[in-house]
Amino acid sequence: MNFSSKIYIDGGDPAETKQADAMLKKAGYHGLDGQTTNPSLIAKRLMNNRKLTSKEAADGYRKTVEEMSNIIPDGNISIQVIGDPATLTAEDMVSQARDRIRWIPNGVIKLPCSRPGLEAAEIFCEEGPVNITLNFSQEQAAAVFAATKTHNYDVYLSPFVGRLDDKGENGMDVVANELSMYRASGDNHVQVLTASVRNIKHLLYALWLKSPVITIPFKIFSEWAKTFEVPPQDFIYDVPGLSEIPYRELTLDKNWTEYDIHHDLTDSGIAKFWEDWSSIVA
Ligand code: E4P
Repeated sequence: MNFSSKIYIDGGDPAETKQADAMLKKAGYHGLDGQTTNPSLIAKRLMNNRKLTSKEAADGYRKTVEEMSNIIPDGNISIQVIGDPATLTAEDMVSQARDRIRWIPNGVIKLPCSRPGLEAAEIFCEEGPVNITLNFSQEQAAAVFAATKTHNYDVYLSPFVGRLDDKGENGMDVVANELSMYRASGDNHVQVLTASVRNIKHLLYALWLKSPVITIPFKIFSEWAKTFEVPPQDFIYDVPGLSEIPYRELTLDKNWTEYDIHHDLTDSGIAKFWEDWSSIVA
């Protein structure tokens, strides 16, 4: 049995990966299709009573994804590049990507949806799979499409729906708009990976929209796993109080640098990932 979307777990603990995979298999599904991680989730797992050296922290990240990779060898596992946003260049990200992609056979490199992140993606998408993270706008999605046209490997884009909801905006609109835009282009090389899922409604609507991938935190996954409910055909995503993010007619044939890729939540997200990572590293 399969769902209309690939199902990933979002977390930093291989025990959760194992449990979620087993729950799917027990219910007759083929198991987890993948895993996403991020610096905040990994920092939480590696947190100790003393600060780690940067080598120990990177080794800890590596060991964690190795364990995850052993649990779901047929799935893919997102590994994020990490660094101080004030100084991290596209070249640094490419060099981290080239190193981290060798950690496990089924890694995908997560790069931020910022200007240096997309510069790095434009280069690295020819060398390995990428997942562009911290996506909050359809225009960013247009830029990701254009920056990764010459890809040789999978390209994923992670709209963070929960963080838009937190600001009173309907985050799922971004998923719906991006899917419509990509589908209308006839080029589906960028796979929308619905992320920052905070509740069952997000999950059901993402399934209804046939988002190619959905990543789910273990807490929400466990709730869903009680029935593995799927949305009916006439499902309506009803979220009173959240303001609509309207669809925009954007052409996808421009150079990626011509799109407005700035979003405050991308900047604050990058800063928070670095803050959380720095809190465990001396
Ligand atoms: C996805 O890859 C991210 O790890 C994740 O979904 C972020 O979710 P949050 O907004 O709940 O932190």
